[in-house]
Amino acid sequence: MGEPINVPLLDLSAQNQPLAAELKAAFARVLDSSQFILGPEVAGFESVAAESVGAKHAIGVSSGTDALLLSLMTLGIGPGDEVLCPSFTFFATAGAIARTGATPVFVDSLDADFNNDLAAAAGRVTDKTKAIIPVHLFGQAADMDGVQRLAKEHDLAVLEDAAQSMGATFGGQPVGTMGDLGAFSFFPSKNLGGFGDGGMITTDDDGLAKRARILRVHGGAPKYYHKAIGGNFRMDPLHAALLGVKLGHFPGYLATRRANAAQYLERLAKCDHVAEGRLVLPTEIEGRGHTWNQFTLRVANGKRDALQAHLAANNIGSAIYYPVALHQQECFAHLPNFGESLPVCEKMAGEVLSIPIYPELTEEQLGHVADTLANAPL
Ligand SMILES: Cc1ncc(COP(=O)(O)O)c(C=O)c1O
Repeated sequence: MGEPINVPLLDLSAQNQPLAAELKAAFARVLDSSQFILGPEVAGFESVAAESVGAKHAIGVSSGTDALLLSLMTLGIGPGDEVLCPSFTFFATAGAIARTGATPVFVDSLDADFNNDLAAAAGRVTDKTKAIIPVHLFGQAADMDGVQRLAKEHDLAVLEDAAQSMGATFGGQPVGTMGDLGAFSFFPSKNLGGFGDGGMITTDDDGLAKRARILRVHGGAPKYYHKAIGGNFRMDPLHAALLGVKLGHFPGYLATRRANAAQYLERLAKCDHVAEGRLVLPTEIEGRGHTWNQFTLRVANGKRDALQAHLAANNIGSAIYYPVALHQQECFAHLPNFGESLPVCEKMAGEVLSIPIYPELTEEQLGHVADTLANAPL
């Protein structure tokens, strides 16, 4: 018997160790500069990141969560306002809305792409609705044509939650460039994974960019003179320097994630579990460039947890993103529609299972995952 094949859900060192020399040089540069707050490293990263995303402005911030919060503050969202968002997403999407004092209005999702059902969203618009947050979940863009139509009809601001989807496109257009603002995350497991928390806001609007930059530093403009209340939402120069190194390798990471996804899809499409509907594969919808931040299966026969245990027994990591939809979270029990059913979101929370898809997966590891899934006792 050969060595058992281990496939962790993530392997950050496989990506970062080969860059050690470049990363250490970036660290040395920041150390020598003694500039530890904003300055040229952050500005330099912002300019390269803006170009990479295709946006006029990029604003480096402290996390993806803060990118969402600062974007909502920039849009002037606050108490009395309602903001449409999916219920099946990471908590920060709705948490940021609630933290401004506005009300998150949860919308059901579509089976096809894990993103908002825009017909359902239209039914939730009231005269208090000020914005919509489409989430490009798992690395695939939401239906931005539909979002823009709805936003135009009801005069809503659009904040794209692109935390999981840097590099994804809709009709050839990059995410983070279609709404008024885009919010990105550089959490270590993201497609552009950093070395701690970090995030970015993108926009083509000069006025919004200026306001976001002011609110990023407590709302002081000039310093110590406050017409607005902001916060400390700054990206660190050290982090900007390190992220700049990884940004140089980003196109390669995306290409490899896409190749890994194509391999999974090809291998698994042939297995009985898929042919007979027990296992549902994720899809890349025509016209959308998927970045595969997650490869998320759905286990349709109620055996998701058993499948996860089976993968673990075969040394394969997996995760449930997300086990509870946000409209069912206790912290939102005070919301008017708490307790009502959003059936697609609830079903997805019971079925989803994400498997390793990181760029450094070897052929052998990927084959082990695909074979273990195909032969699982489902
Ligand atoms: C959809 C979504 N929005 C927002 C965030 C928040 O990003 P961060 O963890 O960088 O605060 C995440 C991160 O997991 C996310 O997946």
